[in-house]
This record gives sequence, structure tokens and C-alpha cells, in this order.
Amino acid sequence: MSSRFPFTANPIGWFMVAYSDELKPAGVMPLHYFGRELVLFRGQDGAARVLDAHCPHLGAHLGHGGCVIENSITCPFHGWRFDGSGSCVGIPYAKKIPPAAMLRRWAVCEKNGMIFVHHAPDESYAPTWDIPVLAEHESQAWTGYMRRRWRVRTNVHEIIENAFDVAHFCFVHGAIRLPESKVTMNGPSFQVSSRTAFDTPAGVMEGDIDIDTFGFGMFTARYRGLIEGIIIAALTPIDDEFVDVRFTFTVKRLPDEAATAFVAQQFMEDACRQLEQDIAVWEHKKFLPRPLLCEGDGPIGLFRKWARQFYPVATLRARAI
Ligand code: FES
Ligand SMILES: [Fe+2]
Repeated sequence: MSSRFPFTANPIGWFMVAYSDELKPAGVMPLHYFGRELVLFRGQDGAARVLDAHCPHLGAHLGHGGCVIENSITCPFHGWRFDGSGSCVGIPYAKKIPPAAMLRRWAVCEKNGMIFVHHAPDESYAPTWDIPVLAEHESQAWTGYMRRRWRVRTNVHEIIENAFDVAHFCFVHGAIRLPESKVTMNGPSFQVSSRTAFDTPAGVMEGDIDIDTFGFGMFTARYRGLIEGIIIAALTPIDDEFVDVRFTFTVKRLPDEAATAFVAQQFMEDACRQLEQDIAVWEHKKFLPRPLLCEGDGPIGLFRKWARQFYPVATLRARAI
């Protein structure tokens, strides 16, 4: 349990751990997320797999020097081999494999050019929902991904809650009026559609924003105004203190290539500026389990009720959110 928040920093759900192109065939990457050491590797069959990183033999980290053979990973220290289920399938100098030679296996999915891990307290929590495939991914009508990344001292809960905090858009981000919002909740997803107008360095931008949240690990923000653009936001807890925030941008191509490049750059810069305005608040704010809300604050209470499904019961203090 984090000292700053009355709930765990590591809720249940899918969290991005890498872009697909960062993990080549037979590639190995050490991961540090959820306050844990993990190893990500891609088998010869192309599938990405994630296991706990420390070898049960003498504790070497498989992400530092481990190598992929077929669809398994070999420990750099004494050559023990583990398959994607976490079972030890070979010890080069022994005939018998100790029955406890196992690593925890983490469910993985790869969608939209991103690799996600399903975080849960233990393996008994199977994923109950999927990350959606985005229609814009690899569509010729949309630009290639542009990427930005931040390490932020906060909790994924605060970042998602921000999207539902309607009033802050005026005071932090330069919205020139309170957005009019419509909210829809559906299991692990939550949508907020808003009509808004922002004062940006490029002038006042009127538009519609649809935010679709998929658990705590990912949301998309679709903007439709003078241009069409999407931010795919991926939030991954690093530990009790920090969150890895990745924003991936794409915009719908205009007939003119130079104009497309210009609006894509403006769209990205404006979104980064807005996120950085939020970061300044998040890193220093205190989480209030019982905030003093008033009319016009937006669906924060509704959001907090929805959020409870991602916290294992044992980690949630009574009336924590
Ligand atoms: S520590 Fe991994 S094989 Fe010995
Ligand atoms: Fe914000």
C-alpha cells in the first residue's frame, strides 16, 4: 500500500509494458513494473511472453543476459530453461528437474502495436476483458504513431480520474467554458463525450472529445474539430511512487502532406502541454477519499464507484474511495 494513497498503486487490469517494435523476434527485455522485476521475451513463434525475472535456482535476472531458444528463455547463470508457462523445461547438467522449478507467468496481449501485461495479485485472477483493436491502427488514412513518455510521481487512479474532473479543464488547460459531457459506463470501460473549446497558442479550438477508458491502463482520447486526432494513453505503475505514462498520437491525413505533418505536430504539442500542466498538480496533490464536491464538478463520484472493480477487495480499506 502506498503511503500517499488509501489503495494499492497496482490495480487489476491490462497495462502496457513496451511497444511491439521494441521487442524483436527472439528479443529479451527486463521490465520493472508493479514494484516487481519481470522479463519480457519474444519466442521464435512471434508471441510475446512475460515471466517473473529471478531464476528460482540461484536468483539470476533472466532479463539481463537471458537468451531465447525456440519459445523458451535460458538463464544466463547456469542455463536452466523456462517455457512461456514459467515451467523449467531443461537443465543442461541434470536429468531431474526439481518440481518447484517454476516462475510466475503473466498474461500478455499484443494489440495496436503495443504489448500489455495483465496485472493481478496472483495467477488465480484470469483476465475477464480484452484490450480493443483500434480501427485507426495501421490505417493508411491515419499518420504513423508519434510517441512521448513521462515518469510521473502519482498513481494511475489520479490520472484516469483527471479525465472526469470536468471543472479543471478551464483552470488548468485553458478551456474557455465548462465542457458539456455525456458519460457511459460499461463493465471495465467508461466513456465520456464532451463538446469543448480550448484557447491554444494556435487560437481557439472548438471540438468534440470522446474519451474511452479501458481499466486503469489505457484510454483513448479522440478529438474531432478542425482536425481528427487520437491520443492512446497508456499508464503503467512502476512502483508505489511512480507511473510510466506513454502517449501515442496519430491524426487523420489531410490531402496535403505538409499540412498533415504540421497539424500532427500541433496536436501532439498541445496534448503534451496539457499533460504537463496536469503533472504539476498530480505530483504535489493529496488524495482525498471524501472530496468536497459541488455542482459542475463532473462525474467524479461515479468514476470512483466504477474504479472499485479494479482493486482486490483485500487491498481496499473501507471507504477508501
Ligand atoms: S541462477 Fe538461473 S540457472 Fe542458475
Ligand atoms: Fe487534465
